Amino acid sequence: MEYPISITPQTVRTVTDTKSIPFGKVPTEHMFIAEYRDGQWQNARITPFHDLTLSPMALCLHYGQTVFEGMKAFVMEDSRINIFRIDKHYDRFCKSLDRMCMPRVPKELFTEAMHQLVQLDSKWVPDEADGSLYLRPFMIATEDRIGVKIGEEYLFMIVASPAYQYYANPLKIKVETEFSRAADGGTGTAKCGGNYGGAFYPTQLAKEQGFDQVLWTDSRTHTLIEESGTMNAMFYIDNTLLTPALSGSILDGVTRDSLLAIAREKGMKVEERPISIAELKAAFEAGKRVEAFGAGTAAVIAPIASITIGDKAYDCYVGEDATMFTLKKALYDIRTGVAPDTHKWNYIL
Ligand SMILES: Cc1ncc(COP(=O)(O)O)c(C=O)c1O
Repeated sequence: MEYPISITPQTVRTVTDTKSIPFGKVPTEHMFIAEYRDGQWQNARITPFHDLTLSPMALCLHYGQTVFEGMKAFVMEDSRINIFRIDKHYDRFCKSLDRMCMPRVPKELFTEAMHQLVQLDSKWVPDEADGSLYLRPFMIATEDRIGVKIGEEYLFMIVASPAYQYYANPLKIKVETEFSRAADGGTGTAKCGGNYGGAFYPTQLAKEQGFDQVLWTDSRTHTLIEESGTMNAMFYIDNTLLTPALSGSILDGVTRDSLLAIAREKGMKVEERPISIAELKAAFEAGKRVEAFGAGTAAVIAPIASITIGDKAYDCYVGEDATMFTLKKALYDIRTGVAPDTHKWNYIL
């Protein structure tokens, strides 16, 4: 192995009752960390979870050179552990790093680090139907220099935390027509920290108005649907699975991609294309059954109960027989090994 990983395990193992942990609140016992210096990845290690020491002048604290991924490991039917779609997450991580002028992590190091960490903390992977181990690979620029520049030193780390259902209830969302998450030519397709910080303010305003999330629209005209909160927006209308086509301002979601592939495999009609708010409104006003949902690793499928366009709230269909739940079950069956993994999405330890 070109990048040997040293492992220092925790001496006393304690696994908390994971079910009561709020999303992302409690880390597992170990973490992975590697340093980039002199143009090389070095000192790759798995250690007990610990705080970092960082110069207050570290570039990541000032200019936003931070990139992350969000992925999950599951316990399968036969008790083996599966890290879902590690390859696609790795590819997206690389694209985000390229966009932010940060060095790529070699695939071998990324995969092996993930494998070893999940293996060591395997007792933390929840064995319940709605449970998983959320995995957070991320990179930060650590060079201590407050001049505006591309960093020359970085840390690549992986932390993990048990996760259960993300949203308890179907969401109430509003179409956002003032603020934007991302603009053409911006960083919307990268999973970089700044995209999330910038989304807090409009999301907070929406929450104060009684909504759970916003439905982002394009920054130029605010007429085309982009994403919902931190999820890809998907619809099922007229027996068709619909989602905005990937553009320069939409994140290429792994869940979105998986659901589209499953739907196509099931022979469903699938359309990836620009979807306007006017088209959505017309479907509601024509009395059509509209299923709407957010798709993302954390929530998997988050049903949307209502969408407010302007000052009018429209109800979406969230009945038990909704197609989104059929898709969710199919995805779940692949991840847990109940259904065949025809796309080679499972990385089984
Ligand atoms: C902005 C944004 N869109 C979409 C998604 C869904 O992507 P994925 O399914 O890969 O988690 C996420 C979450 O990662 C996100 O942060």
